[in-house]
Amino acid sequence: MDKIEIIGGVRLRGEVTISGAKNAVLPLMTAAILSSGENIIHNVPHLRDVRTMGSLLAHIGFGFHLEDNRIILKSKTITSVDAPYDFVKTMRASVLVLGPLLARTGQAKVSLPGGCAIGARPINLHIMGLEKMGAKIKLSEGYIEASAKRLKGAKIYFDIPTVTGTENLMMAAALADGTTVLENAACEPEVADLANALISMGADIEGAGTRVIKINGVNRLKPLDYTVIPDRIETATFLAAAAITQGDVKIKGSRPGHLEAIINKLKEAGVKITQKNDKLSVKGPERLLSVDIKTMPYPGFPTDMQAQFMAMMALADGTSIITENIFENRFMHVAELRRMGADIVVEGSTATVKGVSSLKGAPVMATDLRASASLVVAGLAAKGATVIDRVYHLDRGYEKIEEKLKTLGAKIRRIK
Ligand code: EPU
Repeated sequence: MDKIEIIGGVRLRGEVTISGAKNAVLPLMTAAILSSGENIIHNVPHLRDVRTMGSLLAHIGFGFHLEDNRIILKSKTITSVDAPYDFVKTMRASVLVLGPLLARTGQAKVSLPGGCAIGARPINLHIMGLEKMGAKIKLSEGYIEASAKRLKGAKIYFDIPTVTGTENLMMAAALADGTTVLENAACEPEVADLANALISMGADIEGAGTRVIKINGVNRLKPLDYTVIPDRIETATFLAAAAITQGDVKIKGSRPGHLEAIINKLKEAGVKITQKNDKLSVKGPERLLSVDIKTMPYPGFPTDMQAQFMAMMALADGTSIITENIFENRFMHVAELRRMGADIVVEGSTATVKGVSSLKGAPVMATDLRASASLVVAGLAAKGATVIDRVYHLDRGYEKIEEKLKTLGAKIRRIK
C-alpha cells in the first residue's frame, strides 16, 4: 500500500491547474446509459473512482476508453442490468447507475450500499423517488431490484437535499413519460452540470441549480459530448494548502463562482484571495485567524472541505467551532490531527479547535478521501516528516496531487 511522506514547513509558491471534478464526471459517465452510441467526455481527471465507474460500465456492456483526459464510452445494447456488490462497496457512487438503467431498460439490480467511514448514508430517498415514478422495488439479498415498463413523471419532495439522489432521479425522469418535479432538490454545481449535459443530449430540464427542478420526459436522448466542470473541492484544497503554508499561489482553470462560501471563510481567516476569470491568487497570512464553520448543502460551506479547513484552524490564532451537519461520522481526521499536536475536542457534531502555534509531523492514517486531504494540508505546515498511510483514499479523488504540490515547491514523495 502506498504512503506519502511530506517534510513540512515550505511556503508553497507558483501556479497549479485544477482538474475536472470527480463528483461531476461520475454522474456524467452514468448518463451515457441513457443513449446508445458513442459518448465523449472531456476534461476527465485520472482517478481511481473514474476507473471503477469505467469498469462498472464495461460490466453493463460499454466499451470504456480513457486516454489523456478524455473518456469514450460506446454502447449499442445494454448487456447486463446489475451493479454487483464488488463495485458498490468500492465506490458508493456506483448507485448512480440505478436511475439511468431503469429508465433505459426497465430494469436494474443494484447492490445496496452499506454504511461508510463518514456515516450511514442511506439511499431511501432515491428509492422513494423511483417508486413515486411507478417503479416496483424489492430489496432482496442485499440488492435493490427495480422494474418499470416505463417510468412516469411525478412530483417528488426530498426531506433532505441529496446530491446523488437528485442526480439519479433527474436521469430517470429525463426518459420518463410526462413531467417530474423535484422539490428541495440539491443545488450543487455538479447537479447543474449533469443537467446541462442531459440538456445537450436532448433532455428538457429547467431549474437545475435551484431547489426545484422540472423535467419533461422525452422519448430518446442522443449521446454525450461534454466537458466536465473544474473540481471545486480540489481548488479549495489548494487554497487551504497555500493558506496554511503562508504561500503565494496562482490557481488556474477553476470556477471561483462555485467557491463563494469557502472563499468568504478563507478571507475571514486572513487569507488574501483575488480572482480574475478562471484564475485565483492566494496569499497566506503569517498566522491564520480562527473562524467558525457549519457545513451545509450548497451554497453553504461544503462538508467535503470541512476536514481540510479544520487542518488550517488547528494552527490558527484563537478557537474555532466546526459543526458538521451533513454526515454523522465525518470527524475521523480529528484523532490523526491530534497525533500531530492539534488541540481538538469533539462533542456530537461539533469540534472545538484551539489553534496551536505549531504542528509536528507524525505517522498518520487516512480514513477517507477528504480526511486524507486534511492530513496532507496539515503535513505541509507541520515541522518534520508526516507519513500518510492508506493513500489509496487520496487517489480516489485527487489527480496527481503529489506532482502538483511538488511543482509548488512542497517536499513530498510517494513511498511505494
Ligand atoms: N441521505 C438520506 N437518504 C438518502 C440520501 C441521502 O438520508 O436517500 C442523507 C445522507 O445520509 C446525508 C445527506 O442526506 O446525511 C446528504 O447526502 P447526499 O445524498 O447529498 O450525499 P451523496 O450524494 O451520497 C455526494 C458526494 C459526496 C458529498 C455529498 C454531500 C458524489 C459522488 N458524492 O454524496 O462526496 O460529500 O454529496 O455534498 O457526488 C467526497 O467527494 O468526498 C464525497 C463524499
